[in-house]
Amino acid sequence: MADGQETTTAHAVDWERLRAAALAATEHAYVPYSGFRVGAAALTEDGRLVSGCNIENASYGLTLCAECALLGDLRMSGGGRLAAFVCVDGHGVLTMPCGRCRQLLFEFRAPGMVLLTAAGERSMEQVLPDAFGPADLERADRP
Ligand code: THU
Repeated sequence: MADGQETTTAHAVDWERLRAAALAATEHAYVPYSGFRVGAAALTEDGRLVSGCNIENASYGLTLCAECALLGDLRMSGGGRLAAFVCVDGHGVLTMPCGRCRQLLFEFRAPGMVLLTAAGERSMEQVLPDAFGPADLERADRP
């Protein structure tokens, strides 16, 4: 396989497995302030399952979304890129990643990454059109 595009499209994603992992992650959420549990799960290009939960803070703005913890899991478990992603609340209801997390996911997307949303499967480009990304930094003036 040449890239993640083929990886994602050649094999149907086992969304039930990913949703179950995301729901399981919500059980670890630390949400004393909002009470809103979030769990995220993703399949990596090389077939690993990674997940994360949200972690709130008394200094509210420092809250870590579930996607942040998921990306920590991605890096700690071998790195790579994400081929399929899902996010749910504590009841298992599909939940859209917030704007900041769409940007975080963009950085680690595999080509053709698919997100499961309440509206169906969506591409990264659909949920974050015209994104700023690593390629833009190639225009930076080098010191
Ligand atoms: N939250 C996430 O974990 N991910 C998102 O993409 C949306 C929001 C969390 C942050 C906070 O702990 C709670 O949901 C309520 O905003």
